[in-house]
Amino acid sequence: MAKSISARDRERLQAAAQGAMQNAHVPYSRFKVGAAILTERGDLFAGCNVENASYGLTNCAERSAIFAAISQLGAQNVVIRAVVVVNGQNAPCAPCGACRQVIYEFGPDATVLFQATEGEREAHITELLPFGFRLQ
Ligand code: THU
Repeated sequence: MAKSISARDRERLQAAAQGAMQNAHVPYSRFKVGAAILTERGDLFAGCNVENASYGLTNCAERSAIFAAISQLGAQNVVIRAVVVVNGQNAPCAPCGACRQVIYEFGPDATVLFQATEGEREAHITELLPFGFRLQ
């Protein structure tokens, strides 16, 4: 069961994700994405998708936000509580498989909020990524 996120935190996450989305570098897909994460200790980080002429090097908004948090705070201080994903086309946009695995690494109990075909959805990361990989 996904932990509930307060209305205030949802608003903060949405605003941060929308703000970061403005910086998306998307000359190839024209599909702007923004993401924001909230950590267990209350820090908030945002990121956008950054594409590349060598398409496979593209970084999704979710990973940009997570990598910003870790770059700033160190991985030991980043336990992801929630992730919000927004896009510029009001299109269904659940995190891709690679981002699910990265979310799981730093947030095995994270709640993920995203646009689905049927509207706004929230899901526990393990609903999106059953059997996530961990090295022990
Ligand atoms: N993209 C994201 O940034 N996050 C997602 O959840 C789905 C896809 C980006 C990658 C690429 O820049 C563009 O959207 C089209 O795939």
